Amino acid sequence: MGIIGRSKNTKAERLLPEHIGIIMDGNGRWAKKRGMPRMAGHRAGAQRFRVITRYCNKIGIKYLTVYAFSTENWKRPKEEVDALMGLFFDYLEEALRDFREENIRTRFIGDRSAFSDKIQALMGEAEELSSDKTGLVLNIAMNYGGKPELVTAFRNIAAKISAGEVSPEDIDEQMISDHLYTAGQPEPDLIIRPSGEYRTSNFMVWQSAYSEYVFMDNILWPDFSEKDLEKAIDIYNHRNRRYGGV
Ligand code: IPE
Ligand code: IPE
Ligand code: MG
Repeated sequence: MGIIGRSKNTKAERLLPEHIGIIMDGNGRWAKKRGMPRMAGHRAGAQRFRVITRYCNKIGIKYLTVYAFSTENWKRPKEEVDALMGLFFDYLEEALRDFREENIRTRFIGDRSAFSDKIQALMGEAEELSSDKTGLVLNIAMNYGGKPELVTAFRNIAAKISAGEVSPEDIDEQMISDHLYTAGQPEPDLIIRPSGEYRTSNFMVWQSAYSEYVFMDNILWPDFSEKDLEKAIDIYNHRNRRYGGV
């Protein structure tokens, strides 16, 4: 293998993405294939999420953003949404117990005001308890949409203009980035979507302008293993990131 990518790394010195995004898709189909209720797929998916998160931390990934619930997912039948809220609650309680020992800093991105007070309290607790961790930064996207994120950013900037704190000429790409949920973080290098859908479904609209996408169509999220993550990182290593250059 010769020169790979703009950093000219060889295969022996594999380049780790600094920030990985994962669109955790295919839970429902996984369950359907087994004649199980969709919720069984969501539960299996939550377990995979824990395994893959720990693995990312172990191999030295700095940022992981997982798409857990989109702003559009409220359209699903009430029973599924209610059951998902139950799963988030259980997961958060469990995470508060387990992740204490892990060197992982948990953050939530998205509009959390739509969640119950109990869930919001657990989100705040999980963030606070892990705020001094120095390993992986884990962004869990819940009630997240890339377009609503931009709308919120533009509103906040507009408010600063009204208050006379900034002028329209001050608006630049950096200012917009600084008003997103991911302010201060690097943009995702690699975004992985299992399940066979070739779309982004409103994930990190601004931040993904130069991300490398790996769509894996032979795997559903509840089956996604450490090996599949490694496969995606290998594919990423064979990409030539040009950023518009030559
Ligand atoms: C992803 O799995 C989880 C959420 C969106 C909450 P899906 O529930 O979308 O699974 P499929 O796409 O129906 O198989
Ligand atoms: C995207 O998956 C959102 C999450 C994985 C949380 P969806 O299953 O909601 O996306 P579409 O509807 O197939 O685009
Ligand atoms: Mg889906």
